[in-house]
Amino acid sequence: SVLSRKGLKTLIIDTDPGIDDAMAIHYAFAHAGLDVLGLTTIFGNVFAWQAARNALLLSEQAHYPLDVIEGASCPLTQPLNPPSHHVHGKEGFGDLPAQTPQGTPLAKTTDAYLSEVCRAHSGEVILCPVGPLTNIASLLRYDPGIVKHVKKLVIMGGAVWAPGNVSAYAEANIWNDPHAADAVFAADWDIDLIGLDVTQTIDCDDADFKALRQAAPEIGGFLHEISGFYIKFYHSVIDRHVCLMHDPSALIAITDDELFTYRTTPLSVVCSGEQTGRTVPDDSLDRRGVRVAVGADAAKIKARFLDICGQADKMKQLREMDVML
Ligand code: BDR
Ligand code: CA
Repeated sequence: SVLSRKGLKTLIIDTDPGIDDAMAIHYAFAHAGLDVLGLTTIFGNVFAWQAARNALLLSEQAHYPLDVIEGASCPLTQPLNPPSHHVHGKEGFGDLPAQTPQGTPLAKTTDAYLSEVCRAHSGEVILCPVGPLTNIASLLRYDPGIVKHVKKLVIMGGAVWAPGNVSAYAEANIWNDPHAADAVFAADWDIDLIGLDVTQTIDCDDADFKALRQAAPEIGGFLHEISGFYIKFYHSVIDRHVCLMHDPSALIAITDDELFTYRTTPLSVVCSGEQTGRTVPDDSLDRRGVRVAVGADAAKIKARFLDICGQADKMKQLREMDVML
């Protein structure tokens, strides 16, 4: 085999692809230090069935064989918010039309899958949710003892000291299922939270994606293509021609933790009223502290993203060779 999986960080990404989800997933696939076991999918940017389809498409595009499992189609308690088609496009990848993957999701629930895999690799698996936290809260109900087997969670979500993006208070992933997020923060496991406090400071522009297309015409070209829609959205809300790098930042926090600074605090989530979805720091809570990212070296994080994703086509070729050997 030309690829060794020894010594790699093992992870499962829980995702609602989504343009920045696609960036995060291709970063993970292209990174030689990561072993992505599976993609569990969730409603959010798109409907649940679209998220599973898009996850399959990304893995087939990168020739990265892994498990894809379709998760929850609605929140635990509150009704489903409409998907963010205005941010990510009707099918999740900007203006690109729907495509049909070759494969299908595993015939399993995310509860059973996550419980089995995290127990089989006890203490090794990093869960990286970059969408609403419904699947993770559901796992806690299904298998409460799982907290001892998961290495840690690195979550994209929340706006702890910074303002929100769906309201003055709330970030989209938490707002889409606040009850789930509160249950996840209440559980006794290690959590790093990569939220708007830092992700609003990390961005890429069209020139960055053009360079990425040069380095990796196929996968970089795809990311360049879908980034246009996202950049247009951000131009309409923050008046800058950039896209904010929410979900990739969570993956980069896994591979390059030293590019972030953190403050640890217990967190709870507001579940009703005007402040729904707000992540509230509260030292008096009897909960394990969450390590909240509060600072980030944006220039280095962006450089890291472009460097790793620039190798995406080459890594894909290596995987194709690996299958033939
Ligand atoms: C988060 O919401 C989604 O739109 C993005 O994919 C990201 O996970 C940012 O608030
Ligand atoms: Ca996402």
